[in-house]
Order: sequence, then structure tokens, then C-alpha cells
Amino acid sequence: MSEKTFSPGLAGVIAGETDIACVDQGVLLYRGYPIAELAEKTSFEEVAYLLLYGELPNAAQLQAIKEKFFQYAPLPTPVIDAIRQMPEEVPMMDVLRSMVSYTGHFDPIEGDDHDANRERALWLTSQIAGIIAARFRLMNGKEPVDPMSGLSHAAQILYQCHGEAPDPLAEELVDLTLVLYAEHDFNASTFTCRVITSTQSDIVSSITGGIGALKGPLHGGANEAAMEMLVRFKTADEAAAWIKEALAKKEKVMGFGHRVYKNGDHRARILEDKLRKLADKLGKNEWMAIYDAIKEPMVNDKKIYPNVDYPCGLTYYLLGLPLDLYTPLFVASRVTGWSAHVLEQAADNRIYRPLSIYTGPKERSVPAISER
Ligand code: CMC
Repeated sequence: MSEKTFSPGLAGVIAGETDIACVDQGVLLYRGYPIAELAEKTSFEEVAYLLLYGELPNAAQLQAIKEKFFQYAPLPTPVIDAIRQMPEEVPMMDVLRSMVSYTGHFDPIEGDDHDANRERALWLTSQIAGIIAARFRLMNGKEPVDPMSGLSHAAQILYQCHGEAPDPLAEELVDLTLVLYAEHDFNASTFTCRVITSTQSDIVSSITGGIGALKGPLHGGANEAAMEMLVRFKTADEAAAWIKEALAKKEKVMGFGHRVYKNGDHRARILEDKLRKLADKLGKNEWMAIYDAIKEPMVNDKKIYPNVDYPCGLTYYLLGLPLDLYTPLFVASRVTGWSAHVLEQAADNRIYRPLSIYTGPKERSVPAISER
């Protein structure tokens, strides 16, 4: 490209090539498979394998990746000790960011080639689940529990948080969110991971950076922020009055809008369908009334649609999960997409180094300190 172009937020800029995922006419595909079909027919472990190895696993490969996740789940003792020492008020996402970096010092994988880093991705995926659960337990005055063999990734996280096998419906819904959250091409956190990898830095640094980027409420932090918004209302009328005012003041409403989807996020529709059934089953339809009171004017008047974070926040809430866990659960899934991008970037690398338009002072001389 010879002509220099400027696009704030890199909107519309093609920053690289990828085999991993795309949005084709509004449909999200992971390695060619539509997300709706993956959501219906596969588990998070199958999706993790698909992202990291390029194809869906057969039965033996699926069993092998499950065993790896179990093998890599125990946290190093110094990591548990460090979590124990974290001040109580530190948000879970900050604990996770620090502890992913820290567990990197106890990396059990040898070597630095593609296969070693893919193995490291499996290890990091397990460690992240364990860190979230250990922090959850310690915050609740309980000791971390060892992983149990034979559990799905979703069930393992819930088991290690609560110390008992999860309800099958909770497992199914958390698994679904992990499938939906696993990958989304060049979003902000994935791009962060790719930029870090492009300097030939290591995968732990890339994933740590990705967590920092995902944490923001304009990105993954939106699932927690959307639920923080909803819990303020006791009735649908209250929600309706608030959204009217918020829109008049041109406030951003968390869990709505998307850079790529302008006619709605397919993942949100898939999850919303399950959420409605969950609310109905639990006799919590009043929550759906609040949910709809916000959604209707956003969609009908503003033509801004819910993204996956909007139904996700309420799904986790109805499953009894505390708000502080929502964005960490996004990390527990997206680490697989990030890792696939780290591997892809490293395999065909050119350092990311864009330009900027300088808007500061013109060239000037440095005055003596007595003249400043
Ligand atoms: N609430 C109110 N207005 C909105 C919203 C929203 N959530 N999203 C977009 N708009 C408006 C925006 O103010 C702008 O209006 P105008 O043209 O009058 O200035 C117009 O819609 C176009 O939006 P944009 O800001 O150009 O969109 P963007 O592509 O720069 O930003 C976004 C995308 C996701 C950051 C933004 O929609 C947003 O801040 N949403 C709320 C946070 C959120 O839910 N994030 C999760 C994103 S999806 C999953 C994930 O990554 O976790």
C-alpha cells in the first residue's frame, strides 16, 4: 500500500490474514464451521481442538485433549500461595492477569517451537480455569479443591469453584458460552496477542496482554457491565424509564453494538434462546422482562442489537454465578482462540508497526531549566 490512510480504531483496516475464523455475511465461522452448528453439536473441548489443531477431533483425539486438560490442571503451589496473598479487593480479572504471568515461571513444557507452544496453550487453558476457581474459593473462605478426572472443561471450572459436581444444566450452559466465546478473528484482545507475538515475545506474555485488553468494558468486560446495569432494576418499568433517559443522554449501553455485526450478533441470538428457557425453568421470567425492556428500544429505536455479552451476563447470573466471574469465564474460553492466533502469527510473522499522524508541537529548542 503506497498511499497512507488513517482509520480511527483501525475500523475497516485489514491487519492480517487468518485461517482461524471469519464473519461471513453475518455468520461467524470457526475454521469454516458455522457457530450455530458448533454450538449445537460440539463441546468446548472439541472447539479448543479445532482452533488449535485446525480440524475437529475424532474420538481418540478428543479423549487425549480432555486428558491433557486434566493433567495440566493442578496449580503450582507458589501460584496458590500468591493468590492467597492477593488483597481481597483486587478484582478477579486483575488476579487472573497477574497469575497467568506468574504461572508462566513454572511452565512445564520444554522447547519453543510450534508444537511446544500448542502444548503450552493447553496447559495455559487448564491453568486459567484453576486460577479462577482457586481465587473464587479463597474469596469465599474455602481452600482450593483438586481437579476431578473425567469432567468436561465447563464442569471442571464449576466443580473447582463449588467443590461439588455441577448441575447438568449449569454445565451445559457454561459449556455453550465457552463455545460461543472461544474465537472471533481480529478483535481487540486477539490483536493484542498477535502484536505481542509479532515481536517474537513468548506466548505467556501474549496471553497476559490479551487478558488486559479483554478486561475493558468495551470488550469482554461488557458481560459483567451489562449485568451490573440489569441488577439495578427491580421491575421492567424501572428499566424502561432508565433506558429512555440513557438514550436521550447518548450513553453507551453495555452488551449492545458491535464493530463487525451491524444487524445483530448471531451468538447473542443462540444464547438468548437458551436464556429464555432457563429463566422459564427457574421461574425467573421477571428477569426476562427487565432484559427485554432494555433490548426493545435499543433494537427498535436505535437499531443497535445485543452482542453475546448481553444474554451471557444474565445467563451466568441466573446460574448463580457472581458478577466478578463473568469476564474471567470469557478468558477461560478465549485463551484457545488467542493461542491459535499466537501460533498462526509466529508461523508467518512480520512485526506490527503502524504509523501515526503527529498532532503535537512543532520542532522547538529545549529551554534552560531556569526559563521553564
Ligand atoms: N449503546 C449506545 N450507543 C451505541 C452503542 C451502545 N452499546 N454501541 C454503539 N452505539 C452508537 C455509537 O454511539 C455510535 O453513535 P453515533 O454514530 O451517534 O456516534 C454508533 O452507535 C456507532 O457505534 P460505534 O461506536 O462507531 O461502534 P464501534 O464499532 O466503534 O464500537 C463497540 C463497537 C462494541 C465498542 C460499541 O458498540 C460499544 O461500546 N458497545 C458497548 C460495549 C459492549 O457491549 N462491548 C462488547 C462488544 S462484543 C463482545 C466482546 O468483544 O466482548
